[in-house]
Amino acid sequence: MIVCHCQNITSQDIDAAINWMRAADGTALITPGKVYRALGKSADCGGCMPLFLSTMRKNDNMEVPMTLRGLRAGITQETQNERRQESN
Ligand code: FES
Repeated sequence: MIVCHCQNITSQDIDAAINWMRAADGTALITPGKVYRALGKSADCGGCMPLFLSTMRKNDNMEVPMTLRGLRAGITQETQNERRQESN
């Protein structure tokens, strides 16, 4: 199925790019921009973005790598520590 009509990108192209990027780097965060770049193309009108994103989300390799999970909780904890007043 054609997802991006401007660049003639199919759902198979998107899946292949995601699978290739995941195989090359297991910790990579895969974004639509990276998929476009992997395919040697760039977005034009952006009208396909909702369908492009939903196609990406259906790929099993789109999960956030285990090493990157929980970073938000770590950042939140770090921020809380920075706001604490030290009593000396
Ligand atoms: S339809 Fe994808 S950039 Fe225009």
